[in-house]
Amino acid sequence: MYVCICSGVTDRAVRQAAAEGVRCLADLSMRTGCGACCGSCVPMAEQLLREAGAACDQKAGTAIAA
Ligand code: FES
Repeated sequence: MYVCICSGVTDRAVRQAAAEGVRCLADLSMRTGCGACCGSCVPMAEQLLREAGAACDQKAGTAIAA
């Protein structure tokens, strides 16, 4: 399913990115473009990252414990 319509990013792509070491939304956005436009996908992208074992502190731009 599409998570980010603006950049055409799927849930599979988010999980793949997490499996390859992406740990926060900033990294995901740089890698895939997810969340870089309207931002409506951010909650779902963060949830997927969290489910994959990563979580993002957007203000600090650092990974935090899930
Ligand atoms: S839906 Fe992801 S930035 Fe718009």
